[in-house]
Amino acid sequence: MLRRLHSEQPASFAFTPDNQTWAEAQVTKYPEGRQASAVIPLLWRAQEQEGWVSKPAIEYIADMLGMAYIRVLEVASFYFMFQLQPTGSVAHVQICGTTSCMICGAEDLIAVCKEKIAPKPYTLSEDGKFTWEEVECLGACTNAPMAQIGKDYYEDLTAEGFAQMLDDLAAGKLVAPGPQNGRYAAEPKSGLTSLTEYDSGKTQYNASVQLQMDVKDGVKRIQGDEVPLLTPWVGKDGVVAGRAAAAPTPKAPEAPKPAVKQAAEAKKAAAKPEPKAEASVAEKEPETLKAARDGKADDLKLLKGVGPKLEETLNELGFFHFDQVAAWTDAEVAWVDSRLKFKGRIERDGWIEQAKKLAAGEETEFAKKAKKDGIYDD
Ligand code: FES
Repeated sequence: MLRRLHSEQPASFAFTPDNQTWAEAQVTKYPEGRQASAVIPLLWRAQEQEGWVSKPAIEYIADMLGMAYIRVLEVASFYFMFQLQPTGSVAHVQICGTTSCMICGAEDLIAVCKEKIAPKPYTLSEDGKFTWEEVECLGACTNAPMAQIGKDYYEDLTAEGFAQMLDDLAAGKLVAPGPQNGRYAAEPKSGLTSLTEYDSGKTQYNASVQLQMDVKDGVKRIQGDEVPLLTPWVGKDGVVAGRAAAAPTPKAPEAPKPAVKQAAEAKKAAAKPEPKAEASVAEKEPETLKAARDGKADDLKLLKGVGPKLEETLNELGFFHFDQVAAWTDAEVAWVDSRLKFKGRIERDGWIEQAKKLAAGEETEFAKKAKKDGIYDD
C-alpha cells in the first residue's frame, strides 16, 4: 500500500500549550544529541491532538528535534499507526480483520462501517465524524471481534452493539472501552475457573478501563491537560538525572510563561463546552452578506482552524465578519459545517467562542500568534 502525504494539507500545525510542554518533557528523556529518539511519541501526540499527521506537523516535529523533514516523513509513512489523511472529527475506527476476529464476526463490523460511515475506508462519513479502516491482528484475539479507536480497544463486539456504539460516540457520549459483552477482561466467557478468590472487591471495570472512565477520557482529542504531567527523571533543579548540564532545549516555538499559561488554562476550563448530547441538528441557513460591510472584511484567518482556503469558502458563503460567526446557532453551525470540506471543525476548534472575543475587540492566543508570525491554520 502506498503511503504518502495527503493532497490537501492544513497551512500550519502547532501543539496546544499543554501538549507542547508534554512534548518538550519527552525530549528530555533522551541523551543529548539523541533528541531524534522522541520522534515517534511526538508524532503520536500530534495525531492524538489533530486526528492525523499532516505535512506541517511533520515539519514542526522535525524542527523541534533538529531532524531533516524527510527523516520524520520516513517514520510517519513507514508505521501504519500514523494516519496520513484527515480522519473523523470524533473517531477513526480500526477494525481487526485477522483470523480470530474474522471467524467471530469482523465482516459484520466492517459491514456496519460501510453502512454507517462510508463504503470505502479512509473516507470521511457524511457528517465528518468518522472514518474507518481494516487492520491486521491487534493482539486482543481472546476478545474477538474487536476494534481500536485511538489508543483504546473495544472488544467482544457484536454488529448491533457496535452500531449503537458509533451512535453514542456521535452523540458525544462516553463509551467505556474494553469488553462490550459484560466480560471483565480476557477471562473465559463462561466465567473464572481458577483464582476465583480474586473475583471479589474489584472495581466496576478492569484497571486500565476504570482509570480511563475515572478521568472521562474516551475518544476525545488529547489537549495535554487531561492528566498531570509527570517528569520524575527531571530533578527539582531542572537537571535530568545523571546529566551535568541543564536539560536540552528543543528548537520548538516557545511555550507560554507559567502565569500566562495558568490564566489561559483557567479561561479554557471556564469556556470548555460540555459534549453535545444530540447526534444531529437540523440545518438552518444563517443570515449572509453579499459583500463585506464598507468593503472591509475581518481577517477570518485569525480564527484557529481557518486558513486561506477556508476563509475563501466562508467569504463565498457570505461570511466576512467575526460577529456573523459569533451569532451562529447550533442549526446554523450545522448548515455551515455541511458546506465545509473538513466537517466538525467549527465545534472542535471553538470558532464561535473565538469569534465572540475577536468581535468584541479582544485577542485570542492564536490570533496574537498568527498576527506576529503570519502563520494561519487550515
Ligand atoms: S485476530 Fe483480531 S485481535 Fe487478533
